[in-house]
Amino acid sequence: MDYVLDQYERPMKDLRISVIDQCNFRCTYCMPAEIFGEDYPFLSQDELLSFDEIARLAEIFARFGTEKIRITGGEPLLRKDLDQLIRRLFEIEGIEDIALTTNGVFLVKQASKLKAAGLDRVNISLDAIEDEVFQQTNGRGVSTKPVLKGIEAAEAAGLKVKINMVVKKGMNEGQILPMARHFKDSGHILRFIEFMDVGNHNGWNMDNVVAKREIIDMIHKELPLEPIDKGYYGEVADRFQYTDGDGEIGVISSVTEAFCSTCTRVRLSADGNLFTCLFASKGYDIKSMLRHDQSDEEIITELIRIWTGRNDRYSEERAEGKPFNEKKIEMSYIGG
Ligand code: GTP
Ligand code: 5AD
Ligand code: SF4
Ligand code: SF4
Repeated sequence: MDYVLDQYERPMKDLRISVIDQCNFRCTYCMPAEIFGEDYPFLSQDELLSFDEIARLAEIFARFGTEKIRITGGEPLLRKDLDQLIRRLFEIEGIEDIALTTNGVFLVKQASKLKAAGLDRVNISLDAIEDEVFQQTNGRGVSTKPVLKGIEAAEAAGLKVKINMVVKKGMNEGQILPMARHFKDSGHILRFIEFMDVGNHNGWNMDNVVAKREIIDMIHKELPLEPIDKGYYGEVADRFQYTDGDGEIGVISSVTEAFCSTCTRVRLSADGNLFTCLFASKGYDIKSMLRHDQSDEEIITELIRIWTGRNDRYSEERAEGKPFNEKKIEMSYIGG
């Protein structure tokens, strides 16, 4: 496959599609309740790409070597009939891996339907195993129970499961070990995510970041770990296995060890804007092309133009101290 390469020779590969910008949670680091209230201008139904439009674009990406698609939100399971979109994506030649990032609450209802439609994997967010902490982090007072039930439902349906835990100092660093212990023998990979400076409202500060090194040291003292190779080119998590042979964890260190040099990700927002970086301040309006009857060839020409011009490496630039003055897009809009 001849991939399209960007300015740093990074291939255009993994496609992340946000299907909705709304969520049933108000995680303090993503959609703080005081900002994302009743009058927040969420996208309207007619602004969202239809399943036909998404499937058409996914088919075009597959022609350029995209094999992996991840569905995101907001909370993607709030998008009506999501299984029907999964079915459409599953039918596309060349798409080998369909994954979903979710808070897990609606999996009890939807896991088997999604698996039947062709979903392979789910990454489920859970920031604490202790109820009192989790009720704070999700901003809606929801207990861990519905998420743990969602994890069970996903497993029972035959979906591969990873658990995502955003770690923020002062919020949940006390949950690192309890979470590691809880998931160690579960068969699910727990990934710790450094709190990132995404969006404009989460009050990010370097002091709130718990570095990858600290996370590993903390766990290693009680449950010895050893590093293992990445699972695939461009994987964002660094992997570690427990030396007793039971279980694996990951750490996503976008702040302290940025991984822009292997970033193969392209992101499509729910309203059809294409972003070449999680921290981009503006996207490329593909929806207008779809809705103004542009041909596949015209869309392909535009995608190649966008990707070949790409020079994003935001996380590395921040680490180098480069200032960033523009307004960023919100995590709940672009899906992480
Ligand atoms: P796998 O396909 O299982 O490897 O999933 P993933 O880690 O690529 O996706 P997921 O949606 O579970 O994301 C986990 C965390 O990594 C989230 O906090 C994302 O925002 C973050 N992340 C994913 N891709 C990128 C990226 O390209 N850049 C940065 N800075 N963070 C990313
Ligand atoms: N920093 C790191 N990860 C974040 N996520 C949301 N906001 C942030 C942030 N500020 C995570 C979610 C989910 C994934 C899509 O991104 O918890 O696991
Ligand atoms: Fe919702 Fe996920 Fe954002 Fe939490 S991190 S508010 S679950 S989209
Ligand atoms: Fe890719 Fe941008 Fe994340 Fe760097 S900061 S890894 S370029 S999405």
